[in-house]
Amino acid sequence: MAILVTGGLGYIGSHTVVELLNNGFEVVIVDDLSNSERFILKNIEEITGKKPAFYPFDLKRRELLTQVFDAYHIEGCINFAAYKAVGESQLKPVDYYENNLFSLINILQECKERSISNFIFSSSCTVYGQAEVMPINENTPLKLPESVYGKTKQMGEEILVDFAKAYNRKITLLRYFNPIGAHPSGLIGELPIGVPSNLVPYVMQTAAGIREKLSVWGNDYDTEDGTPIRDYVYVVDLAKAHVDALKKLMNNSSEESVIDIYNLGTGKGSSVLEVVKAFENANHVEVPYQICARREGDITTAYANADKAERELHWKSETSLEESLRTVWQWQNYLNSRNA
Ligand code: NAD
Ligand code: WQD
Repeated sequence: MAILVTGGLGYIGSHTVVELLNNGFEVVIVDDLSNSERFILKNIEEITGKKPAFYPFDLKRRELLTQVFDAYHIEGCINFAAYKAVGESQLKPVDYYENNLFSLINILQECKERSISNFIFSSSCTVYGQAEVMPINENTPLKLPESVYGKTKQMGEEILVDFAKAYNRKITLLRYFNPIGAHPSGLIGELPIGVPSNLVPYVMQTAAGIREKLSVWGNDYDTEDGTPIRDYVYVVDLAKAHVDALKKLMNNSSEESVIDIYNLGTGKGSSVLEVVKAFENANHVEVPYQICARREGDITTAYANADKAERELHWKSETSLEESLRTVWQWQNYLNSRNA
């Protein structure tokens, strides 16, 4: 009995694989390394003392995926594999639709043919857009995302709901807020390839001297310090939520379709400048920054009401912003030592 983890060498996927292995699951990873590197696999093995099966291919290659499904008794799937850069998705819309949707559909075809249930999908708070009321709960109305990336997440959700209903399958949609941090071992973390577009990787590289200055995209928002507010959730906490969600699905013996949806966040919002300060305090380093014009498409405020996950999954993110940011710096130091 194995769990297929697509994108299992990526940022959130690798942390989840560690938690799955630590919880006794057999794990089969498919990842084409389009946004990761092989040493992540070795480091997962070092952290856990276990060796997950690994297949380096593109999920769009259905015939290879069929072989993996033939080779294992797959009991559930967690689908992390996707392209995720919002800006890039506007420039390469067809590639994003192709990768994010065809990969998902190929996996669902295999699951459909083999009566496999227990499917977890990485969704995003981007499906809510700028919500009118904070905090955001699962009943907050969805808005058509502005970015192509966001649309692939919303379409993925819809495809999965139709899949669950038509074939009586059990699915969970996890809507992550802003994942940050790295494993406490310092051996796995977010691998920003090229210039990072997300805040925390950019802060990390600025502190390390790889980037000269952080550009703070606007300080004229309607917030206390004028910079936008997000819900930064620690990646190891997030990874644990996947194990909780998987166990819940697997324990549910319903013959009917099951559609579980959870927001995963801390419930607390932090501004861009608060993140910069917290990083400096946590790591005793300086993060030079300059205030710039707003970034197109940015919203003012988003933070989660994650009570449903607490109630039904018994999951709560309790790692503080500073603690999470300490692990980011450990990870950067590890990357420095690899490059030395
Ligand atoms: P990531 O890029 O680090 O991980 C994705 C992994 O999938 C990578 O290792 C990549 O090589 C692999 N991959 C991509 N396309 C593939 C394909 N066609 N075949 C095989 N492997 C493929 O991203 P992440 O931050 O770990 O995000 C994981 C998931 O969570 C994504 O679906 C993303 O949309 C979603 N998500 C991420 C965030 C975030 O801020 N990181 C927030 C909300 C939702
Ligand atoms: C956070 C804040 C920026 C970089 C994106 C996706 C979303 C989800 C999470 C996947 C914003 C500011 C950033 C910088 C800055 N991903 N910032 N200077 O925009 O909340 O969401 O990632 O699903 O879909 O849209 O995250 O980390 O890019 O930005 O000032 O160099 O940091 O303006 O206010 P965001 P982010």
